Amino acid sequence: MTTVYLIEEYEHHIPENIKKALLFCSKVADEANIPIFLIGGIVRDIIISRKNFDVDITVQGNAVEFAKLVQEKCPGICQVKEIHDAFKTAKIQFILNDNGDECVKIDLASTRKESYPCPACLPVIEKIGCELYEDVIRRDFTINSMALSLNQNSFCQLIDYLSGYSDIHQGLIRILHHNSFIDDPTRIIRALKFSVRFGYKLDDETQKLMHECLNSRRFDNLAGERVKLELKQALNINNAEVLTRFINENIYRLVDTELEIPPNIDDLSKKCEQTVKENMGFLYTDENIWLIYLGVLLLSRETLEKLYMSNQEQEIVINADMLAQKKHTLASAKTRFEVYEFFEKSRIESILAFLTKNYDLKDKVDLYLNELQDITLSINGDTLIKMGMQPGPNFGKLLREALRAKINGKIITHEEEIEFAKSF
Ligand code: CTP
Repeated sequence: MTTVYLIEEYEHHIPENIKKALLFCSKVADEANIPIFLIGGIVRDIIISRKNFDVDITVQGNAVEFAKLVQEKCPGICQVKEIHDAFKTAKIQFILNDNGDECVKIDLASTRKESYPCPACLPVIEKIGCELYEDVIRRDFTINSMALSLNQNSFCQLIDYLSGYSDIHQGLIRILHHNSFIDDPTRIIRALKFSVRFGYKLDDETQKLMHECLNSRRFDNLAGERVKLELKQALNINNAEVLTRFINENIYRLVDTELEIPPNIDDLSKKCEQTVKENMGFLYTDENIWLIYLGVLLLSRETLEKLYMSNQEQEIVINADMLAQKKHTLASAKTRFEVYEFFEKSRIESILAFLTKNYDLKDKVDLYLNELQDITLSINGDTLIKMGMQPGPNFGKLLREALRAKINGKIITHEEEIEFAKSF
């Protein structure tokens, strides 16, 4: 096997501040004679020239002790931020300049050997501080199982026991052993995520094992929050292919084996992607795109709870369906205010999920998003008191009617609002 060094790739794709922090780690590791490696996603992303700021180091030994050692040897620069003694993992933080804005966070893990006590259970640790090879073979795909040496005598040497480098160049997602999906079915969603993100194919055997796992329906022990995390990352890519394949390849069974499959999933997925792209400006964050996709599916409250979704996340998804159920109200809305009333209590994500399935009402949705949602009154309760009115339930009624008049274009200016209030 030829030895590959990724010195140029490292130089080009690792940001300067991260390189500085890694150099500190490297020196401490050399002094203490501890092998340390960049591992997993960051190595994959260096090879494919993709930015990745999640720095994962694996320490062949005890990562907690190593973290403390780096803190001790780099006083004022490195601090241990978190320690998980059971897993022997730690988080350290480097502050590389005086004003403290050049900050690098690094996750340190000890090499570990794991096994799965039952299908879809969380793994148990068999050994900490094992050989790198044992740490690597517990992982998901060949493209995520490469390590890059950080010790000076082998700096940037690629450790690639399972041909991840060649799989990257062939665009292949390949699991490492037959039981990988049975052990951890969330890897099926990860395979979908990486496949769509990078445009890679699942190799034939991996594809076959994925189907076998999905047909087995052995997901009783699967933790909902892990499924949620992977689903969120996959759907947040905002690519129609994720939803289409999620349904067509039966991956939805991980979420709800009884899911009612929407007809024309291909069209629906494309509409969803397009809707999100066209309306991105209305979203406060792109972290919630996945909720729009889930809003398009008919997921029950029970399923959402099983995924450990927060109340707000659940409301967004359920509300999309509630809007759809009373769509006739919107269809028959004659005034601008009726359109406003239909959407006013909904989050943008629910509205976009509704739009995806109801393109015939696009004009009204666009009207709400582009104009109506931003209309507010310039008068409020205080204004009315200053005008000499007695506070009471009528205030609410008056302000609501003023808003109706304003949204319907009957009043426009502040003075007109005041006049409206006087005449109410
Ligand atoms: N991993 C795994 N099985 C999982 C999740 C993660 O084997 N179910 C391993 C993989 O080696 C992965 C590493 O843990 O590379 C880190 O996981 P994570 O941070 O979730 O993934 P990344 O590969 O960094 O992917 P992303 O770019 O999406 O963050």
